[in-house]
Amino acid sequence: MSSPTSRPARKAVIPVAGMGTRFLPATKAVPKELLPVVDRPALQYIVEEAARAGLPEVLMVTGRGKSAIEDFFDRVPELETALEKKGDADRLASVHESTEVAQVHFVRQGEARGLGHAVLQASAFVGDEPFAVLLGDDLIDARDHLLEHMLAVQAQHGGSVIALLDVGRENIDKYGAVAVEPGTQTALEGDEVVTVTGLVEKPPVDEAPSSLAIIGRYVLSPAVFDVLRETSPGRGGEIQLTDALATLVERGEPVHGVVFSGRRYDTGDRLDYLKAVIRLASERDDLGPPLRAWLHDFVADLPAEGASSS
Ligand code: UTP
Repeated sequence: MSSPTSRPARKAVIPVAGMGTRFLPATKAVPKELLPVVDRPALQYIVEEAARAGLPEVLMVTGRGKSAIEDFFDRVPELETALEKKGDADRLASVHESTEVAQVHFVRQGEARGLGHAVLQASAFVGDEPFAVLLGDDLIDARDHLLEHMLAVQAQHGGSVIALLDVGRENIDKYGAVAVEPGTQTALEGDEVVTVTGLVEKPPVDEAPSSLAIIGRYVLSPAVFDVLRETSPGRGGEIQLTDALATLVERGEPVHGVVFSGRRYDTGDRLDYLKAVIRLASERDDLGPPLRAWLHDFVADLPAEGASSS
């Protein structure tokens, strides 16, 4: 069992081998993790988040049809020379950003057999230390500090830490759901810390233990690898990380939850993707003012639809 005195997490694993069926046909040829959120791939925001949190060693778990991801994090000397000749320093810097932000390694999953199976491919890279997992299509706003909070909880309490979001009971059947001990422990900038007592993947709404959903950030004990090796395919015929975490809880390994109170976008979901692009673009200094002015007029002309403001 990990103890609070074990070495803090230093490595990040980003699984990007999924098929992205919710975003077809775009994802037939383009990995969903490379779809641009304004002018940068979703995945670049995620690598930057890992680096900001003090995890500059990143392993991406890729698969067939995802080689564009390796190209994106590689140098492109001819492009750099062309930009240098033009004296386009800003664009040159933006091209360098993707290669300089972190040390990125790759391993192949072979077959998309589920998130648990993807994480298992990272065992040799991770070794015997706690590590972070960031899902390649789950974007956390850079102004919120979810991963930092999770790393702090892991360093203090040991075990594993998962990110949770209250999605409302009516939506919980699309997520992994958790049971938690009543009463919260501490709050970190509005994010509460809870003790997880059970996990279940995509439960029917009337059987869900709570409305708290697992979202795409984890800080895991290396003990999860042994459990994953023994985990049979579960929901959807996939090896589920949620099932392995449920086994850890049953074995008495501590699993904590950080209930996120900030901004999160599932860029693998078309509607959430559109919200991410509009929100982040409208807040930027360069694109924000003309976009906000256009949005204002556009929205004023729209018929009311009774939509939520989230
Ligand atoms: P998702 O369930 O969102 O990915 O997995 P998916 O299967 O690609 O999506 P849809 O539902 O078909 O649209 C979350 C993350 O885990 C990765 C995905 O790439 C995504 O970043 N993943 C999923 C893997 O790396 N391998 C898998 O076998 C499954």
